[in-house]
Amino acid sequence: MAEEEQQDANGGVLTRGDAEGVTPQGTAKDSLSVTDNRTGEQYEVEITDGTVKAMDFRQMKVDEDDFGLMAYDPAFTNTAHCRSDITYIDGEAGVLEYRGYPIAQLCEESTYLEVANLLIYGELPTQEQLDEWIFEITHHTFVHENIKKFVEGFRYDAHPMGMLLATVGALSTFYPDAINIDDQTERHMAGVRMIAKMPTLAAFAYRHNLGLPYIYPDNDLGYPGNFLSMMYKMTETRYEPDPRLERALDVLWILHADHEQNCSTAAVRSVGSSQVDPYSAVAAGVAALYGPLHGGANEQVLRMLERIETTDNIPDFLEGVKNREEKLMGFGHRVYKNYDPRAEIIKKHVDEVFEVTGKNPKLDIAVELEKRALDDDYFAERKLYPNVDFYSGLIYEALQLPKDMFTVMFAIPRTSGWVAQWLEMTQDEETKIARPRQVYSGARERDYQQVANREQKVDPPTGAGATTVIDPAAGGDPAGVGAV
Ligand code: CMC
Repeated sequence: MAEEEQQDANGGVLTRGDAEGVTPQGTAKDSLSVTDNRTGEQYEVEITDGTVKAMDFRQMKVDEDDFGLMAYDPAFTNTAHCRSDITYIDGEAGVLEYRGYPIAQLCEESTYLEVANLLIYGELPTQEQLDEWIFEITHHTFVHENIKKFVEGFRYDAHPMGMLLATVGALSTFYPDAINIDDQTERHMAGVRMIAKMPTLAAFAYRHNLGLPYIYPDNDLGYPGNFLSMMYKMTETRYEPDPRLERALDVLWILHADHEQNCSTAAVRSVGSSQVDPYSAVAAGVAALYGPLHGGANEQVLRMLERIETTDNIPDFLEGVKNREEKLMGFGHRVYKNYDPRAEIIKKHVDEVFEVTGKNPKLDIAVELEKRALDDDYFAERKLYPNVDFYSGLIYEALQLPKDMFTVMFAIPRTSGWVAQWLEMTQDEETKIARPRQVYSGARERDYQQVANREQKVDPPTGAGATTVIDPAAGGDPAGVGAV
C-alpha cells in the first residue's frame, strides 16, 4: 500500500494512503477519513478538540500543480480562528461563562472592573490586586486636552459611535510607544488606558451632541458613577450618582464585557494580527460593533418599538417580519439557539432601573412582542430568541440617553473583552497575520483596451456619474460641505 506521512504547514500530521486501504493511522479514533473522489486518494486527517486543520486539506490535490483544497466559509460560520481561554458559550444550552465563572454569578457578586481584571488576567483578583487595579484605572481616566479639541471638530450631530471610533484610534498617536507590543508594560498600560478612557471619550461625544461643556472625570467616584457624572453633571459642585443606577450600569457592563469570537472581537484579533498598536486594533472593534447586525442592534430595537407604537400593531408587524419585509431586531443569534442568558439577566434589572427613572412605556410593547414571537412557529423553528440587545435599549432610554448613544454603552464594557482577546492573541504562538483566501470568480487574462476602443459594458448605479449641483439660493449647502 502506497503511503506517505508528512508534516503539514501547521505542524499537524496528515497521512495519505491509496484508494484501496486506510493507513494504520486511519484506525486511530481521533481522525477523519477522507476519500477524494477526483483521484480516489484516501487521507487521514487528525481531529483535535473537535476540529480539523484547514491546512491539512491543502495536501489534497488532483495533480502536483493543483493548489490543493481550501475550506470555503464566507462568514466564519464553522471556522475556529483561534484558541481561547477567556469566554465559554454553549449556544444550545444558553450558557455563558467568563474564565469558567457563570455570568449570572458574576452579575450577582462582582463589579465590572473586577470582571475586566478577571477577563484580562484569567483569575479573580485578590483584594490587594483589585485595589491596585481600580486605582490604576481611576488614575488614567483623563484624556489629553487635544482629544477634547479633536471631539470639538465634529459636526454638532455627529454619531457618537463615529466619534468614539475616531478618538480611540487617535489615542494611538498620543501613546506611540504602544506599538511595542512585545513589551509587557506597554501592553498592560494600553489595556488600562483604554478601559479607563473609554467612558471619558463616550461622555465627551454625548456632551458634544448636546452642545454642553465636557465634564472631567471625578476620581472620588466609582467607574459607573464617574461615567454618570461625566454625562449628566450640570451646575452642582458634586454629582451624586444614584447607587441603584450605578449598580444597574455595572451589571449591564459585566454582561457586555466579552462574548468570544463575535464580529468586533474577530476584527480586533484580525487587525491586531498585523502587529499594529492596540488602540488601532480596538478602533477596528468599535467600527465592527457600530453595525446594526452587531452592537448597533440595541439602537434599532428602540426604533422598531417606536414604529410598532402600540401592542395592537404587533400581529401586523410580525407578519411583516415573516414576509421578510424586515427583521425582528434584538432577536436571533449566530451562537445562541436558546434564550440568550444575558437577555434574561437584563430583563430582571429593567424593573430596578424603572423604579428610579419611571417606567418606559415601550416595555409593554417589548414584553408582548417577545411573548408573541416565542409563541410563533416561524421563530420557534429557527430557534430565534431575544438577545442581549432586546431589553438593554429600554434601560438606556430610561436613563435619558438618545438612541445613538446605545451602541456606545455597549462599546465601553466590550473594551475589556477586546483588550483581553488582543492580549491573548499577542501571546499565542500560533498567531500569524490573518489573511483569508478567496475563491476567485472573475475574468482572466484579458487584453487591455485603449479608452477610445472601449464599449460601455457596465451601467453606473443610479445617481453615480451625475454632477451634483448645489444651489445656495435654494438654501442648499452654502459651504459646499456636501460636495467635498
Ligand atoms: N428576525 C427575523 N428572522 C430572523 C432574525 C430576526 N431577527 N434572525 C434570523 N432570522 C432568520 C433568518 O432570516 C434565517 O431564516 P431562513 O433560514 O428562513 O432564511 C434564519 O433565521 C437564520 O438566520 P441567519 O441570518 O442565517 O442567522 P445568522 O447567524 O447569520 O445571523 C444575527 C445572526 C444576529 C445577525 C441575526 O439573527 C439578526 O440579524 N438578528 C437581528 C439583529 C440583532 O439583534 N443583532 C444583535 C445580535 S446579539 C449582540 C451581538 O453580539 O452583536
